Amino acid sequence: MSSDAITIRRPDDWHVHLRDGDMLKAVLPYTARVFGRVVVMPNLSPPVTTVASALAYRERIVAALPTGVNFTPLMTAYLTEATAPDEIARGFADKVWVAAKLYPANATTNSAHGVTDIRKIDAVLARMAEIGMPLLVHGEVADPAVDVFDREAVFLERVLAPLMARQPALRIVLEHVTTRAAVTFVEEAGPNLAATITAHHLVINRNALFQDGLRPHLYCLPVAKREADRLALRRAATSGGAKFFLGTDSAPHPVKDKECDCGCAGIFSAPNALEIYARVFDEENALDKLEAFASVNGPHFYRMPVNRETITLTRGEHAVARDVGSVRPFLAGETLNWRLA
Ligand code: NCD
Ligand code: ZN
Repeated sequence: MSSDAITIRRPDDWHVHLRDGDMLKAVLPYTARVFGRVVVMPNLSPPVTTVASALAYRERIVAALPTGVNFTPLMTAYLTEATAPDEIARGFADKVWVAAKLYPANATTNSAHGVTDIRKIDAVLARMAEIGMPLLVHGEVADPAVDVFDREAVFLERVLAPLMARQPALRIVLEHVTTRAAVTFVEEAGPNLAATITAHHLVINRNALFQDGLRPHLYCLPVAKREADRLALRRAATSGGAKFFLGTDSAPHPVKDKECDCGCAGIFSAPNALEIYARVFDEENALDKLEAFASVNGPHFYRMPVNRETITLTRGEHAVARDVGSVRPFLAGETLNWRLA
């Protein structure tokens, strides 16, 4: 493998927000350009809670694809306290969705219909454990009494550890981990727990949100943490370890909804996500581990084959666009040093 080009199996994105309508049309080409399969988050308004709504959403995504692109959206179910175990199992058996997503109520964007107490969905989780269907968790408590920077660590103790004790056979992805505590927790757990890591949490720490002023475009949930946390994420991602894989959490919001009195959480990284991961792996002298993280560990956890096609990244400077439609991409205007050939 030369140091100026790297060829890997086509990667997949195991956590992305594609939205709907005009926003879907605007952002989908960036994701479909590079990723073969993506796990599509169901936090639309209203959320995707039924087999019928997931099928309809999948059709809208496929209809919005640029022609000739080979791309598979993998759908997810949004769990509510009213979700029926049979509906979840039916969608999984019929291959409509590949996983179900747990949003603690009011923890993040469009999570008002989420779960207030995880014990209320015990029956659904038991059924998922039985059929081998992965649970994807937004791992933050929504308790306003808990410091916003501690919400992930507290979730591990209060919610995740007891859940794993109750449902040891349940396969869980702790999404977008942001702390050293979460990395250690995942490493020490058994093979049924894995985690995704975003590109932006490998690049920024919480200081970046306040550098020379308030930076609304660097605000996402879980919010970026300390430098020691960022370094732990970089070690985990570049370790090659099977429990960590690529999930961008690319989450577009129009600039006007970010730059306002109460700005939305979400970082839009889709236009350059793979190039940013490549830069991080290069900085960590771990380009040889990029394929495991981006293209192998995810499918193995989801029990799917790896992609057969390959993609090539070459060293070469290019600038990130300032704006993509109404959305400001992550690292807008900055120069990246890897590009998709
Ligand atoms: C996501 C969104 O905008 O939908 N926002 C975010 O900051 N990551 C929701 C989420 O994944 O928490
Ligand atoms: Zn997300």
